Amino acid sequence: MTSPRRPAVRRRTAVLRREAVLATVPVAVAALLGAAGPAAAGTTGASGAGDPYFPLSGNGGYHVRHYGLALGYDTSSRHLDGKADLTARATQRLTRFDLDLKGLKVTGVTVDRATARFTRSGQELVVTPRHALREGQEFHVTVTYRGTPAPVTDPDGSADGWIPTDDGAFVAGEPQGAMTWFPANNHPTDKASYDFTLTVPEGRTAVANGVLLGRRTTHGRTTFRWRQSEPMAAYLATATVGKFDIERYTTRDGVQVYNAVDPREARAAAPVLKKLPSVLEWESGLFGPYPFRAAGSVVDHAPDVGYALETQSRPLYDSAPDLSTLVHENAHQWFGDSVSLTAWKDIWLNEGFATYAEWLYSEQHGGDSAQKTFDALYARPASNGLWAFPPGDPGSGANIFDTPVYARGAMTLHELRRAVGDKDFFRVLRAWAAEHRAGHGTTDRFVRLAERVSGKDLDGLFHTWLYTKGKPGRA
Ligand code: TRP
Ligand code: ZN
Repeated sequence: MTSPRRPAVRRRTAVLRREAVLATVPVAVAALLGAAGPAAAGTTGASGAGDPYFPLSGNGGYHVRHYGLALGYDTSSRHLDGKADLTARATQRLTRFDLDLKGLKVTGVTVDRATARFTRSGQELVVTPRHALREGQEFHVTVTYRGTPAPVTDPDGSADGWIPTDDGAFVAGEPQGAMTWFPANNHPTDKASYDFTLTVPEGRTAVANGVLLGRRTTHGRTTFRWRQSEPMAAYLATATVGKFDIERYTTRDGVQVYNAVDPREARAAAPVLKKLPSVLEWESGLFGPYPFRAAGSVVDHAPDVGYALETQSRPLYDSAPDLSTLVHENAHQWFGDSVSLTAWKDIWLNEGFATYAEWLYSEQHGGDSAQKTFDALYARPASNGLWAFPPGDPGSGANIFDTPVYARGAMTLHELRRAVGDKDFFRVLRAWAAEHRAGHGTTDRFVRLAERVSGKDLDGLFHTWLYTKGKPGRA
């Protein structure tokens, strides 16, 4: 399976939503100017994390260590009531800092229990604490908010964030949508642990990341408590709500599995979900120990979404996945979730790796060899979209989920494998997952690791496959 997991309808959406995209431009420009201006060197936290693809994603001046999210969602009115409790640390003196939050009404903000002033400007929630925060100071922020959450439209026209469904909501935040349902430092550079307390009408299930701590029903409403203890990027958080069949078990490796399946997808999903333990075992054999204490799946019935997401510890599918999609999303648990991006331009470190996992799965389970998959792609003419841009440099946030990132990204890994041999190749993958576990990677560091493990000069290979425009020639 070589095609990206993206909605066929995405382009159509892009045209329909063009105004929304343009409307964000002045804000982005203002933020860039602000970040470059003298104020940034002062005591106000920057409005972005410095990622050129998404200039306003994330913020400067602090890191979040923990999010405590208490949400109530009424599936019939689609109203959300939220309280977010953040534990953070200032990395500079701060008289003011931003959080990312799009839409919704903020009803109050406190910093260390003192009421704080706040303003809203586009996706920036600008908070002025009563007392300035010292560099290195740990602080607590609470934000209470409510409203009807709506998804964001990304530069590529895709919708992500809180996406209402006929029985709840499909909640997927890549790359920007986390801010549609909680105030966040919304960039993968800032990972944190999470606690979720999710209250929904009795009969609905609210599924988040990590381990289920408990559930309790009173007065016709059920509260689910979830804990994601390993650090997680905001875009990988979910709080998906619907009518779900639940399956729970623990794997031989002691991983707690929780599968939630929309009954309308149950029949198609069952044979694939049955393979989850063996897929995780197979991936652990290749990539090293599974990085989280929880695993599972949320199989929703969300026909308008058009993609799946590797939500941490529990991938989210818009319909019953096929086996290669299951392999892909679970491979992301190592590559993308445990080892996070430092910048969105390095997205091939997520998608190229997860796609190559599909090729390897096929090769080792009686399907096409990775070489055959490579050859079939390589046979595409130079005019094909596969060669539209090099995967190491997609050029903009609008391209991060396009074919070159997935397929040519995987081809890059295949070329690496051919250059260094299987033994070193799998050593590199395992070392990558181990050395950056619960942390971050960059393309540069991956290249240096591959060179260190193999003792080979690989600059030419990576330069050709990641950074050279057009179809690479035969070596
Ligand atoms: N990361 C997802 C995957 O490959 C794909 C994805 C997430 C996506 N969000 C998206 C694709 C938005 C298109 C648009 O599994
Ligand atoms: Zn993917």
